[in-house]
Amino acid sequence: MLVDRLNKALRAVPAWPLYVAGALPVIWLFYRGLIGGLGVDPVKVIEHRLGLWGLWLLIAGLAVTPLGRFTGVRLIRYRRAIGLLAFFYILTHLLVWLVLDVQIPRLIWADIVKRPYITIGMAAFVLMIPLALTSNTWSVRKLGALRWRQVHKLTYVVVPLGAIHYVMVVKGWEMEPFYYLATVLALLGLRLVPKRRRAPMPGGAGRPARS
Ligand code: HEM
Repeated sequence: MLVDRLNKALRAVPAWPLYVAGALPVIWLFYRGLIGGLGVDPVKVIEHRLGLWGLWLLIAGLAVTPLGRFTGVRLIRYRRAIGLLAFFYILTHLLVWLVLDVQIPRLIWADIVKRPYITIGMAAFVLMIPLALTSNTWSVRKLGALRWRQVHKLTYVVVPLGAIHYVMVVKGWEMEPFYYLATVLALLGLRLVPKRRRAPMPGGAGRPARS
């Protein structure tokens, strides 16, 4: 089957090239900004692109499980790289805002408190920190699979907050942010679809043995 072939081909592809490929657009973006290739307000362009790419990556990470469940395409081994890249993009998005956009420390706190879209973006970022810190194998072992999975359920809060932040950033009735929000809600909704129980094996195999 096509899916089996795809999964087999993917097994030969390691995750590390994803980190390299994922970092390249950021380097390219800053380079274009430096040489004057991003128009009259390069800081805004960089800020916006990083935010948008960060959101794409967050959505891609959220899509991995439903994609596996409903199509059989297994991308689970790339999920850590996708998540860490999302964190890297959002951290850079935040740093651009702090260092190149607002710049004045007094105004940073005022913006976080007074502008609801910044408050929501900041909340999403803060919740991403435990996800990034526990994304390594050591943390999975230390926390245990169950607790680790519970911590990583924070994703279900982070990604909608990121999408809501985008809805709030855009002035007027632009539809694009709503499409992202709808995609996020649909991906979360798919997780509520009950799993079909496997039919019992003939002869009762799979049932616990009676003592
Ligand atoms: C998960 C977290 C976040 C996501 C997914 C995200 C995503 C986005 C997106 C998609 C945009 C609009 C891009 C466009 O118009 O093309 C944006 C804009 C922006 N974001 Fe974020 N962001 C996040 C966190 C933050 C944080 C932590 C801050 C700062 C504290 C921040 C500050 C901004 C600012 C200042 C803008 C531009 C607003 C303007 O046009 O004036 N974001 N973000």
